[in-house]
Amino acid sequence: MKTKIRTRYLMSALLLFSVVMVSVVSAEGDKADGAEASLYERLGGVYSIATVVDELIERLEVNDVLNANPAIDKARTAVPKAGIKFRLTAMICQATGGPEVYHGRSMKDSHARLNISNAEWDEMERVFGQLLNDFKVPEKEQRELFALIGPTKADIVTAD
Ligand code: HEM
Repeated sequence: MKTKIRTRYLMSALLLFSVVMVSVVSAEGDKADGAEASLYERLGGVYSIATVVDELIERLEVNDVLNANPAIDKARTAVPKAGIKFRLTAMICQATGGPEVYHGRSMKDSHARLNISNAEWDEMERVFGQLLNDFKVPEKEQRELFALIGPTKADIVTAD
């Protein structure tokens, strides 16, 4: 009887220890097997990414630097922002290693008529960086996100 109780106690203690260890390791952004969690997982998955994208589009759509460009301003009123939020969320989820799949147009096609300049790109990056700081996204994850976005600039910026 005593042995049974002791075994049960030992099993509970072991279980508690493994739960605590998994939480500690996850907090570092690593998986239990030592592999680093995907950027998608470290950002908190689709709900967190959708929340950041939601706020990003809200801020960009009222940005004076961007709206000084008539093509951007026109698209802002013509294109439903819920659609852009949905597609951008899917794109970021896919690019960061999540299960969501992006079914939208290429970056070249969707931005071709917007005459986006280098200064407007820089403004978008500034607003995005500020937003990530506001959401307390760690520097490492911010760097990884910008590294994914950076290569799209060649297709998006079409004006000087
Ligand atoms: C200054 C920078 C940017 C501006 C002003 C901008 C603006 C816009 C606008 C106005 C649209 C709607 C176009 C339309 O449907 O006719 C759009 C679509 C979209 N943008 Fe951007 N964008 C910028 C940068 C980016 C970046 C860096 C990404 C991602 C890497 C991105 C991803 C998308 C996606 C996924 C769509 C939806 C495409 C579709 O519906 O097929 N954009 N953007």
